[in-house]
Amino acid sequence: MKKATAQASSDVALIKYWGKKDETLRLPENSSVSIILEGLNTTTTVEFGPSLTHDVIKIQGESDEQEIRRVVKHLDRIRMLAKTHCFAKVESENIFPKCTGLSSSGSGFAALTIAATNALGLHLSQCELSILARQGSGTACRCICEGFVEWKVGDSDQSHAETIFPSHYWDIRDVVATVDIGNKKVSSTEGHKTASTSPFFTTRLGSIPKKIEMLKKYIKNRDFIKFGELVEAEALEFHSILLTSTPSLIAWYPGTIDVINLVKEMRNQGIKAYFTINTGFNVHVLTLPRYESSVVEILFRSSFVRDIIRAKVGKGPHITSSHLF
Ligand code: PMV
Repeated sequence: MKKATAQASSDVALIKYWGKKDETLRLPENSSVSIILEGLNTTTTVEFGPSLTHDVIKIQGESDEQEIRRVVKHLDRIRMLAKTHCFAKVESENIFPKCTGLSSSGSGFAALTIAATNALGLHLSQCELSILARQGSGTACRCICEGFVEWKVGDSDQSHAETIFPSHYWDIRDVVATVDIGNKKVSSTEGHKTASTSPFFTTRLGSIPKKIEMLKKYIKNRDFIKFGELVEAEALEFHSILLTSTPSLIAWYPGTIDVINLVKEMRNQGIKAYFTINTGFNVHVLTLPRYESSVVEILFRSSFVRDIIRAKVGKGPHITSSHLF
């Protein structure tokens, strides 16, 4: 049987997906908008073999039981579509740290979906791939797409993401400051479940459609200041939901707050930069190409910043001819 390898990029949510209407189908409580990040990539090779007696899965050279269960479940969905019972060998590598708030499950399940369907000779449309990837990880449905992406809230199991602006539309840079290593303390899977316990959650849901409308307008007009102000305010609102949920979820580390203050300081110096943060402690600093090197230089002044990953708006996933095994 054919071996296939896919590369997919992670994304950063500008308007965050938080809370699920349906846990099993992974239907979101709200629409979300993100940017695909070329530079935060996952490569996955899949080969189905009639002689295998079980799935053999390695992620970053490791076989974590919980992760394997989730991957096997996703392979089962794909096997069902292809009407096969063959087991698979899967290897996956990220060029960025996983479980630190950089959406590695998004790029991981997008790459797995594309590699596995390709290996089984399934010809799916981008919409079908997005629907399928969503069932492995919500954010993965966005990582099937290119550029600026919207995942519209919907009640049906057909919920999927679409590109709203291609990658070449606007050259935005994401300078990711990693401030710690090790796994994040706030799991998104658990956090989605408690989102609605925040007294502010309903208010947030009510304000999302207008926010998305405004964000799309700012992207269309390439208005970086309005774009950045909205994205930063959204990140803080999202974290206020985490802080006020029961149990409360505190994702930030001291380094996270140091970087937030540095970004504010950059703006005082005329450098246009804005932050956003997911459920981890690492910080995405969004900026324009002409400010990128200054942003990097200033971030490295923080004694908390261990590493920096530079990303730009990505073209989305593709099949590659170099395999991991
Ligand atoms: O796909 P999950 O379950 O890892 O959820 C991700 C949620 C956020 O990263 C916080 C927001 C988002 O839209 O990416």
